Amino acid sequence: MKRIIQLHVNGEEYEVLTETHKTLLEVLREDLGLTGTKRSCDLGACGACTVLIDGRPQLSCLTLAVDARGKTITTIEGLDQDGTLHPLQKAFVEKGAIQCGFCTPGMILTAKAFLDEHPHPAEREVKKAISGNLCRCTGYVKIVEAILAVAEKQ
Ligand code: FES
Ligand code: FES
Repeated sequence: MKRIIQLHVNGEEYEVLTETHKTLLEVLREDLGLTGTKRSCDLGACGACTVLIDGRPQLSCLTLAVDARGKTITTIEGLDQDGTLHPLQKAFVEKGAIQCGFCTPGMILTAKAFLDEHPHPAEREVKKAISGNLCRCTGYVKIVEAILAVAEKQ
């Protein structure tokens, strides 16, 4: 069954005619063209599909789009400020925390929500915060360095 739903994504209001069983991940990628949010396991195990809903990291592969109505959704496309990369995006580039990049959007959004609540974290807290976001390439060292570098500048 299709219905029209309104979604507030990256500061814009969208009206989408979509199947009610579709996940937020599917609607973001297939209906809104926001392909920065990645689909990997589709099972809630990898964190690649993480977006912020009302400022908190959520797995969009496990969230029905209809359940995201009335909430503020932020994807990686909404993180820059007037074309300037977010400090976390810059730090990931500068520290070499990106290899294939598939985990990066979810990782950065998880880190953003974490730093918003814990501006001066210890390394072990950073590691725990990103423990639900899997990276097959980097070994995590550069990712943790990048997040700590942003925290140090805050
Ligand atoms: S794609 Fe959602 S957790 Fe892996
Ligand atoms: S950079 Fe490839 S999965 Fe993380």
